[in-house]
Amino acid sequence: MKRDLVAIGDLSDRDIMQLLALADQISSDMRSYAHVLDGALLATLFLEPSTRTRLSFEAAMLRLGGRVITSSDAKTSSASKGETLADSIRMVSAYSDAIVLRHPHAGAARLAARLSTGPVINAGDGGHEHPTQTLVDLFTLRREKGHLEGLFVVLYGDLRFGRTTHSLARALVRFGASVLALSEPGLNLPKYVVEGVRGTGAGVGEVEVAGLEALVGSRLRGTLLLPPGLGATPSTLTLLADQVDAIYVTRLQRERLPRGAGEIRALPLIDRVFLEAAPFRRAVVLHPLPRVDEINRNLDDDPRAAYFRQAAGGVPVRMALLGTLLGAFPALEAASAGLALAPETAVCAEPACIAATEPQAVPPEWFRGVDGGLICAWCEHAAT
Ligand code: NCD
Repeated sequence: MKRDLVAIGDLSDRDIMQLLALADQISSDMRSYAHVLDGALLATLFLEPSTRTRLSFEAAMLRLGGRVITSSDAKTSSASKGETLADSIRMVSAYSDAIVLRHPHAGAARLAARLSTGPVINAGDGGHEHPTQTLVDLFTLRREKGHLEGLFVVLYGDLRFGRTTHSLARALVRFGASVLALSEPGLNLPKYVVEGVRGTGAGVGEVEVAGLEALVGSRLRGTLLLPPGLGATPSTLTLLADQVDAIYVTRLQRERLPRGAGEIRALPLIDRVFLEAAPFRRAVVLHPLPRVDEINRNLDDDPRAAYFRQAAGGVPVRMALLGTLLGAFPALEAASAGLALAPETAVCAEPACIAATEPQAVPPEWFRGVDGGLICAWCEHAAT
């Protein structure tokens, strides 16, 4: 039975720990893995811009002895002639042993996984999920801090359209870390992420954040996600000295902002002054990159700036994943039965959902019931 990686929820806790341990081993002795995937062929299909994700997947495949075919320019692929994703995937699946897909529409990788005979890995589906970035982020946090359980992580920036934090917030809470989500105004974590975390028994609530007034001029509001067992969230959170273990910064995803969104007031720049504030003194700074203007370049040689070490981790982590999904390393746990889908007459309200853009390829039963409503099984937005 093939395994895909479409959402971070597709991996069990044990799967994630197995992949991170393997990535650790690989990074300490990369050359001894040079023939693990001899003869295997990976297709990278990137219909949105990418530097790190595509290159690190390709480097990972080549370092395992495999080979790569790529289509990395949406303008020169047949998508620009009107070919559907469904048709492209049927064909690329026949050409290769596994597919890494980046696509502008939420749910695209889930559709591809249904149609491909080999494993499909989601390298970003619109504003929805980016599970392999989360594996890289967890790998980095473990290396920098020694563990995940008990960490206090601040997510900072565009948490609505930035897909990396959607996968990361869910994973951190699963591993016992607490998350404070501080977003640009109007760009907070989507409801489906927050409610999904609440559904695991975590404490979830809106908080007023005290302790940063000197830095930001006023009290910020944020969303606090506390792993199960830590109790209810307070209404005011006073950040203590040295409390923050990591601050995960994301850029404003201008390409996904709705037309006419206007100028979005940005959160303060992360620089040396920011990290002098007592709660952040021991915080490592992560960023999935590319950085635009969220982190001052004067921070790059500060030992707490971990974003380039983080990017380097992309190769061993993706080697572990490719080798596992292609059968060269111990298998992951059996996939869960998947979403229990029921035929519904609802409509997904998200215009950037694959169900809206390729209605002929997605089955009609694409909703699942959650407390008090229906969620689109492709993009996870609520149905109307
Ligand atoms: C991110 C992405 O594509 O979502 N980049 C990455 O994969 N490292 C973040 C971003 O583009 O801002």
